Amino acid sequence: MIVVTTPTGAIGRQVLQNILPSGEPIRVIARDPSRLSPEIRDRVEVVQGSHGDSDVVNRAFAGADAVFWLVSADPRAESVEAAYVDFSRPACAAFQSHGIKRVVGISALGRGTALARNAGHVTASLKMDDLIASTGVSFRALTMPGFMDNMLRQVEPIRNQGLFFWPIAGDRKAPTCATRDIAAVAAKLLVDPSWSGQAIAPVLGPEDLSFNDMAQIMSDVLGKPVRFQQIPGEAVRSRLLGNGYSEAMAQAMVDMLEAKNQGLDNAEPRAPQSTTPTSFRQWCEDVLKPAVLS
Ligand SMILES: NC(=O)c1ccc[n+]([C@@H]2O[C@H](COP(=O)([O-])OP(=O)(O)OC[C@H]3O[C@@H](n4cnc5c(N)ncnc54)[C@H](OP(=O)(O)O)[C@@H]3O)[C@@H](O)[C@H]2O)c1
Repeated sequence: MIVVTTPTGAIGRQVLQNILPSGEPIRVIARDPSRLSPEIRDRVEVVQGSHGDSDVVNRAFAGADAVFWLVSADPRAESVEAAYVDFSRPACAAFQSHGIKRVVGISALGRGTALARNAGHVTASLKMDDLIASTGVSFRALTMPGFMDNMLRQVEPIRNQGLFFWPIAGDRKAPTCATRDIAAVAAKLLVDPSWSGQAIAPVLGPEDLSFNDMAQIMSDVLGKPVRFQQIPGEAVRSRLLGNGYSEAMAQAMVDMLEAKNQGLDNAEPRAPQSTTPTSFRQWCEDVLKPAVLS
């Protein structure tokens, strides 16, 4: 039995699609099961509720072997540690009490670097990984740079102004990966009962690109000029506060982006096992272009 958290999310949804053909029994945890497609609801067991809730994870983990663990940080949390680490405490207790064999978690690049000490979401994700590891469960933390799919949040300015914005220098090259590739790596681990122990599994995409490089690729694929513009972290903070983020969660985002601007994502050397196939150009053809044209 495999338990999948966030089955309606960007990664979780694709993890589910990847593991369905395995024939393994699957249980999902969903706050609102009506957001699952009828085809999915017919093929999986559903436990309704939040995976930060002790009752919910205890029901979901009964008799399970493997868990896909992803925390979607609450933007109104009182601290970023509460959003990732405290949220994960009930599940960590339940990994132990239910004898879960393997956990595949979603995390971030940066372990062991000085920049990761004050990198908001990344710092908290790594502390969450430590908490999961402390349970003794066999664990793979998938560690990622920024997702290509983040660009979908900027479809409107890309479409209307030919512009996208980030508080990061335009020539800072870094890895980037597609959520489809993260989901494929996670699914492979979830259906494979042969691994044990604890390790990180970086997911780095095929190449390092700067935002200026991405602007060039987007211009080619969309057939119109697209330009990158660096903005101050302060502009990001104001926008997040305006969208209802708590002070702490807005600061956590600004701290993470500043650490990335200083090279947080550049410490992990690319190796064959961390190189995933989807190029940014391919992702733009398959995902961004239809979104911009819609
Ligand atoms: N974006 C990046 O560049 C990046 C880089 C490295 C790591 N990460 C990590 O990747 C993860 C985000 O993955 P994603 O993009 O797949 O997530 P996502 O699509 O933003 O969210 C996943 C799902 O979580 C559920 N959810 C939201 N808030 C929740 C809550 N308080 N309690 C329970 N469920 C909740 C939502 O489903 P319902 O509304 O249907 O319940 C949502 O569909 C985060 O852990 C992030 O730190 C992101």
